[in-house]
Amino acid sequence: MSGLFVTLEGPEGAGKSTNREYLAERLRAHGVEVVLTREPGGTPLAERIRELLLAPSAEPMCEDAELLLVFAARAQHLAQVIRPALARDAVVLCDRFTDATYAYQGGGRGLGAERIARLETFVQGELRPDLTLVFDLPVEVGLSRAAARGRLDRFEQEGLAFFQAVRDAYLARARACPGRYRVLDAGQPLSGVQQALDALLPELLERIRG
Ligand code: TMP
Repeated sequence: MSGLFVTLEGPEGAGKSTNREYLAERLRAHGVEVVLTREPGGTPLAERIRELLLAPSAEPMCEDAELLLVFAARAQHLAQVIRPALARDAVVLCDRFTDATYAYQGGGRGLGAERIARLETFVQGELRPDLTLVFDLPVEVGLSRAAARGRLDRFEQEGLAFFQAVRDAYLARARACPGRYRVLDAGQPLSGVQQALDALLPELLERIRG
Protein backbone atom coordinates (compact mmCIF):
# COMPACT_ATOMS: atom_id res chain seq x y z
CA MET A 1 0.00 0.00 0.00
CA SER A 2 1.12 3.58 -0.52
CA GLY A 3 -0.43 6.95 0.28
CA LEU A 4 -2.36 8.78 -2.40
CA PHE A 5 -3.17 12.46 -2.51
CA VAL A 6 -6.43 13.14 -4.37
CA THR A 7 -7.89 16.63 -4.65
CA LEU A 8 -11.42 17.63 -5.70
CA GLU A 9 -11.86 20.91 -7.51
CA GLY A 10 -14.56 22.89 -9.21
CA PRO A 11 -16.83 25.84 -8.67
CA GLU A 12 -19.22 26.40 -5.79
CA GLY A 13 -22.28 24.15 -6.09
CA ALA A 14 -20.51 21.39 -8.05
CA GLY A 15 -21.25 18.69 -5.44
CA LYS A 16 -17.63 18.19 -4.34
CA SER A 17 -18.51 17.41 -0.72
CA THR A 18 -21.22 14.86 -1.56
CA ASN A 19 -18.98 13.15 -4.08
CA ARG A 20 -16.00 13.21 -1.71
CA GLU A 21 -18.10 11.33 0.87
CA TYR A 22 -19.23 8.86 -1.79
CA LEU A 23 -15.69 8.14 -2.96
CA ALA A 24 -14.48 7.81 0.64
CA GLU A 25 -17.17 5.20 1.35
CA ARG A 26 -16.23 3.21 -1.74
CA LEU A 27 -12.55 3.23 -0.81
CA ARG A 28 -13.22 2.35 2.84
CA ALA A 29 -15.28 -0.63 1.68
CA HIS A 30 -11.98 -1.91 0.24
CA GLY A 31 -10.19 -1.50 3.58
CA VAL A 32 -8.41 1.72 2.65
CA GLU A 33 -7.73 4.37 5.33
CA VAL A 34 -9.21 7.61 3.99
CA VAL A 35 -8.65 11.09 5.42
CA LEU A 36 -11.28 13.63 4.40
CA THR A 37 -10.21 17.23 4.58
CA ARG A 38 -10.63 20.58 2.88
CA GLU A 39 -9.02 23.89 2.01
CA PRO A 40 -8.83 26.55 3.09
CA GLY A 41 -8.98 24.82 6.46
CA GLY A 42 -8.48 21.28 7.70
CA THR A 43 -6.93 22.19 11.08
CA PRO A 44 -8.26 24.49 13.82
CA LEU A 45 -5.77 27.24 12.94
CA ALA A 46 -6.30 26.87 9.19
CA GLU A 47 -10.08 26.96 9.75
CA ARG A 48 -9.61 30.32 11.49
CA ILE A 49 -7.74 31.57 8.41
CA ARG A 50 -10.63 30.22 6.30
CA GLU A 51 -13.04 32.39 8.30
CA LEU A 52 -10.90 35.44 7.51
CA LEU A 53 -10.88 34.54 3.82
CA LEU A 54 -14.60 33.87 3.46
CA ALA A 55 -16.18 36.51 5.69
CA PRO A 56 -17.44 39.53 3.75
CA SER A 57 -15.89 42.61 5.34
CA ALA A 58 -16.07 46.38 4.95
CA GLU A 59 -12.28 46.57 4.49
CA PRO A 60 -11.42 45.17 1.06
CA MET A 61 -8.85 42.37 1.29
CA CYS A 62 -5.96 43.12 -1.05
CA GLU A 63 -5.10 40.37 -3.53
CA ASP A 64 -1.66 39.68 -2.09
CA ALA A 65 -3.07 39.33 1.44
CA GLU A 66 -5.63 36.86 0.08
CA LEU A 67 -2.95 34.85 -1.71
CA LEU A 68 -0.68 34.72 1.35
CA LEU A 69 -3.53 33.75 3.68
CA VAL A 70 -4.44 30.88 1.37
CA PHE A 71 -0.85 29.61 1.46
CA ALA A 72 -0.51 30.21 5.23
CA ALA A 73 -3.53 27.97 5.80
CA ARG A 74 -2.05 25.44 3.36
CA ALA A 75 1.31 25.33 5.17
CA GLN A 76 -0.45 24.54 8.44
CA HIS A 77 -2.71 21.96 6.82
CA LEU A 78 0.22 20.21 5.13
CA ALA A 79 2.21 20.07 8.36
CA GLN A 80 -0.63 18.91 10.60
CA VAL A 81 -2.78 16.71 8.38
CA ILE A 82 -1.72 16.00 4.80
CA ARG A 83 1.93 15.04 5.17
CA PRO A 84 1.37 12.87 8.29
CA ALA A 85 -1.53 11.06 6.56
CA LEU A 86 0.49 10.36 3.41
CA ALA A 87 3.44 9.22 5.54
CA ARG A 88 1.26 6.49 7.08
CA ASP A 89 0.02 5.49 3.61
CA ALA A 90 -3.51 6.85 3.97
CA VAL A 91 -5.49 8.21 1.04
CA VAL A 92 -6.14 11.93 1.43
CA LEU A 93 -9.31 13.24 -0.25
CA CYS A 94 -8.98 16.99 -0.09
CA ASP A 95 -11.78 19.36 -1.10
CA ARG A 96 -9.74 21.99 -2.98
CA PHE A 97 -5.98 22.56 -2.97
CA THR A 98 -3.50 24.63 -4.97
CA ASP A 99 -5.40 24.26 -8.25
CA ALA A 100 -8.02 26.44 -6.55
CA THR A 101 -5.35 29.09 -6.01
CA TYR A 102 -4.45 29.01 -9.72
CA ALA A 103 -8.17 29.19 -10.56
CA TYR A 104 -9.43 31.79 -8.04
CA GLN A 105 -6.40 33.97 -7.31
CA GLY A 106 -4.84 33.35 -10.75
CA GLY A 107 -7.89 33.17 -13.05
CA GLY A 108 -10.43 35.07 -10.96
CA ARG A 109 -8.23 37.78 -9.46
CA GLY A 110 -5.76 37.87 -12.34
CA LEU A 111 -2.60 37.21 -10.30
CA GLY A 112 0.33 35.86 -12.32
CA ALA A 113 0.76 32.09 -12.36
CA GLU A 114 4.52 32.44 -11.84
CA ARG A 115 3.99 34.16 -8.46
CA ILE A 116 1.62 31.41 -7.39
CA ALA A 117 4.12 28.81 -8.58
CA ARG A 118 6.87 30.38 -6.42
CA LEU A 119 4.68 30.15 -3.31
CA GLU A 120 3.62 26.64 -4.27
CA THR A 121 7.24 25.50 -4.27
CA PHE A 122 8.03 27.45 -1.09
CA VAL A 123 5.13 25.89 0.85
CA GLN A 124 4.85 22.44 -0.72
CA GLY A 125 8.36 21.65 -1.92
CA GLU A 126 7.90 18.81 -4.40
CA LEU A 127 4.49 17.70 -3.11
CA ARG A 128 1.70 17.81 -5.71
CA PRO A 129 -1.61 15.90 -5.81
CA ASP A 130 -1.40 12.46 -7.42
CA LEU A 131 -4.82 12.95 -8.96
CA THR A 132 -7.16 15.93 -9.28
CA LEU A 133 -10.87 15.50 -10.02
CA VAL A 134 -12.36 18.61 -11.60
CA PHE A 135 -16.15 18.77 -11.13
CA ASP A 136 -17.00 20.94 -14.08
CA LEU A 137 -20.24 22.90 -14.25
CA PRO A 138 -21.64 25.82 -16.25
CA VAL A 139 -21.06 28.96 -14.22
CA GLU A 140 -24.73 29.94 -13.97
CA VAL A 141 -25.71 26.52 -12.63
CA GLY A 142 -23.03 26.61 -9.91
CA LEU A 143 -23.98 30.12 -8.84
CA SER A 144 -27.68 29.40 -8.62
CA ARG A 145 -26.98 26.25 -6.55
CA ALA A 146 -24.73 28.31 -4.22
CA ALA A 147 -27.36 31.05 -3.92
CA ALA A 148 -30.00 28.46 -2.99
CA ARG A 149 -27.82 27.40 -0.03
CA GLY A 150 -28.27 30.80 1.66
CA ARG A 151 -25.96 33.65 2.59
CA LEU A 152 -23.12 34.18 0.12
CA ASP A 153 -19.48 34.24 1.27
CA ARG A 154 -16.85 36.72 0.04
CA PHE A 155 -16.04 34.63 -3.05
CA GLU A 156 -19.63 33.69 -3.85
CA GLN A 157 -20.45 37.40 -4.03
CA GLU A 158 -18.25 37.72 -7.13
CA GLY A 159 -19.90 38.07 -10.52
CA LEU A 160 -20.24 35.83 -13.56
CA ALA A 161 -17.01 37.01 -15.21
CA PHE A 162 -14.98 36.03 -12.13
CA PHE A 163 -16.45 32.52 -12.11
CA GLN A 164 -16.07 32.13 -15.85
CA ALA A 165 -12.34 32.92 -15.41
CA VAL A 166 -12.18 30.38 -12.56
CA ARG A 167 -13.76 27.70 -14.73
CA ASP A 168 -11.52 28.51 -17.70
CA ALA A 169 -8.44 28.29 -15.46
CA TYR A 170 -9.42 24.85 -14.14
CA LEU A 171 -10.10 23.52 -17.63
CA ALA A 172 -6.86 24.98 -18.98
CA ARG A 173 -4.86 23.29 -16.21
CA ALA A 174 -6.61 19.98 -16.88
CA ARG A 175 -5.87 20.25 -20.60
CA ALA A 176 -2.22 21.10 -19.97
CA CYS A 177 -1.61 18.06 -17.77
CA PRO A 178 -4.17 15.37 -18.68
CA GLY A 179 -2.30 12.68 -16.74
CA ARG A 180 -3.05 14.23 -13.37
CA TYR A 181 -6.60 15.53 -14.00
CA ARG A 182 -9.97 13.93 -14.64
CA VAL A 183 -12.73 16.32 -15.67
CA LEU A 184 -16.19 15.12 -14.56
CA ASP A 185 -19.47 16.56 -15.81
CA ALA A 186 -21.01 17.84 -12.56
CA GLY A 187 -24.07 19.20 -14.39
CA GLN A 188 -25.55 15.72 -14.88
CA PRO A 189 -27.68 14.01 -12.20
CA LEU A 190 -25.73 12.84 -9.14
CA SER A 191 -26.10 9.19 -10.13
CA GLY A 192 -24.18 9.90 -13.35
CA VAL A 193 -21.32 11.57 -11.47
CA GLN A 194 -21.19 8.64 -9.08
CA GLN A 195 -21.04 6.19 -11.98
CA ALA A 196 -18.03 8.11 -13.27
CA LEU A 197 -16.43 7.81 -9.81
CA ASP A 198 -17.18 4.08 -9.75
CA ALA A 199 -15.40 3.76 -13.10
CA LEU A 200 -12.36 5.44 -11.57
CA LEU A 201 -12.24 3.15 -8.55
CA PRO A 202 -10.20 0.26 -10.05
CA GLU A 203 -7.48 2.69 -11.15
CA LEU A 204 -7.39 4.28 -7.71
CA LEU A 205 -7.17 0.93 -5.95
CA GLU A 206 -4.39 -0.18 -8.27
CA ARG A 207 -2.40 2.95 -7.50
CA ILE A 208 -3.00 2.61 -3.75
CA ARG A 209 -1.87 -1.01 -3.80
CA GLY A 210 1.22 0.07 -5.73
P1 TMP B 1 -15.72 26.10 -0.41
O1 TMP B 1 -14.68 25.18 0.10
O2 TMP B 1 -16.92 26.14 0.45
O3 TMP B 1 -16.03 25.93 -1.84
O4 TMP B 1 -15.17 27.61 -0.23
C1 TMP B 1 -13.85 27.92 -0.31
C2 TMP B 1 -13.69 29.17 -1.11
O5 TMP B 1 -12.32 29.53 -1.06
C3 TMP B 1 -14.06 29.00 -2.56
O6 TMP B 1 -14.82 30.11 -2.97
C4 TMP B 1 -12.75 29.02 -3.28
C5 TMP B 1 -11.84 29.78 -2.36
N1 TMP B 1 -10.44 29.38 -2.45
C6 TMP B 1 -9.53 30.23 -3.05
O7 TMP B 1 -9.90 31.32 -3.47
N2 TMP B 1 -8.24 29.83 -3.16
C7 TMP B 1 -7.78 28.62 -2.70
O8 TMP B 1 -6.60 28.30 -2.84
C8 TMP B 1 -8.73 27.76 -2.06
C9 TMP B 1 -8.29 26.43 -1.53
C10 TMP B 1 -10.06 28.16 -1.98
